Amino acid sequence: MEKAQLHLEGRTYELDVVIGTEGEKALDISKLRDQTGYITVDVGYKNTGSTYSQITFIDGEQGILRYRGYPIEQLAEFSTYLEVAYLLIYGELPTRAQLEDFEERIKARTLIHEDIKKFFDGFPSSAHPMGVLASVVCSLSSFYPESLDPYAPDEVVERNIIRLLAKVPTLIAWIYKKRMGHPYIYPRNERSYVNNFLYMMFGMPTYDYEPDPHVVDALDKLLILHADHEQNCSTSTVRTVGSSRANIYASVSAGICALWGPLHGGANQEVIEMLEMIKADGGNVQKWVEKAKDKNDPFRLMGFGHRVYKNFDPRAKIIKQAADQVLNALGIHDPVLDIAKKLEEVALSDPYFIERRLYPNVDFYSGIIYRAIGIPVEMFTVMFAFGRLAGWLAQWWEMRRANEPIVRPRQVYMGPGLRDYVPIAKRG
Ligand code: ACO
Repeated sequence: MEKAQLHLEGRTYELDVVIGTEGEKALDISKLRDQTGYITVDVGYKNTGSTYSQITFIDGEQGILRYRGYPIEQLAEFSTYLEVAYLLIYGELPTRAQLEDFEERIKARTLIHEDIKKFFDGFPSSAHPMGVLASVVCSLSSFYPESLDPYAPDEVVERNIIRLLAKVPTLIAWIYKKRMGHPYIYPRNERSYVNNFLYMMFGMPTYDYEPDPHVVDALDKLLILHADHEQNCSTSTVRTVGSSRANIYASVSAGICALWGPLHGGANQEVIEMLEMIKADGGNVQKWVEKAKDKNDPFRLMGFGHRVYKNFDPRAKIIKQAADQVLNALGIHDPVLDIAKKLEEVALSDPYFIERRLYPNVDFYSGIIYRAIGIPVEMFTVMFAFGRLAGWLAQWWEMRRANEPIVRPRQVYMGPGLRDYVPIAKRG
């Protein structure tokens, strides 16, 4: 094994060099503190590998994203979300029989306990869907107490993984129904996974509803593109919470909360709001690009930039094309798509964005598709959570099976040194 040398205070230490499947290089510092008394500092974990994972590979320089070795472009074109979920969770593409069995097991669990409806009653209809989803997903743990056992056998873990894949679409559709004041629509399991979700969202007891097949395809593709993205903020949160041996519902609920922020999954909502704002302001794209560059102005181009991708986000390429396709198929002309394309063109030829290697990310065009298929802006981030669910579950299980230790970073304390307490009477 290759070693790196560290020279510190006159001594030389050897660190193991770790090389990943695709040649990624890392230094193993897991014994550093014991050997040297030092820790490393890396605020925001920009250079820290938190785990060894076999699920997703990203090369940010080349714009590569692969799930279990398969390129995202091939999966988005030929696969379905449930097939991809199976791949992420079990490590291999399913045979036809395995996929059918997986789908049947999910279909058998799409209903949610009737008492959950009372939870929905308690929320105001204006509640943000992410807050409701996080709360209800966490509360599912109380309906499935077998999930609380940190030493439960694989078959129990697997059952709860299936439950989450089955119930989250129903929950999201019911969050929408609650917002609209419409009656809840129960799942119809003869429908495909995505068709069933759209049926629960947009169906009504008063008429038959069949979603447009272009919409079903576009949504399936979006779910695949969002399904996993290695150790991002929400996935790291899911693994971190799970590392304390908290149950899978609590861990996924924490992931939903982490995804909510505008610097992460919340960006898709912010993008469409930004594009609308630019449109309402007269569509002067250059003005907003200048604002984004101005360090005294807090405005940022939402949907631009990525912690890992520094050339392009492969998902954004696929989504841009899918946005064109679905809008054409539905006969929609959305002026916001024109603004998005103009903004991308102006930003990508501007030295500020070129030097900082800022490109459109997955969220730049996804909102345009969501809007075209009738999903309201406030629901965009729960749609991201819907797709990412498969990845969270796969990552949580991988962490548990590897029996990873509880996550507990250290810090460098920079606060006041030791001082004596001063009674309040003497503090003035
Ligand atoms: N608009 C304008 N300037 C930007 C943008 C942007 N969207 N993103 C980064 N920059 C600038 C920063 O101001 C900084 O400039 P400086 O070097 O002169 O100080 C430089 O580019 C580096 O930016 P950081 O924030 O340090 O990069 P980091 O890797 O920490 O952040 C992030 C990445 C959070 C995605 C950032 O680019 C951003 O805020 N983008 C907008 C929000 C967004 O789209 N989030 C979705 C991400 S994808 C996802 O989560 C699925």
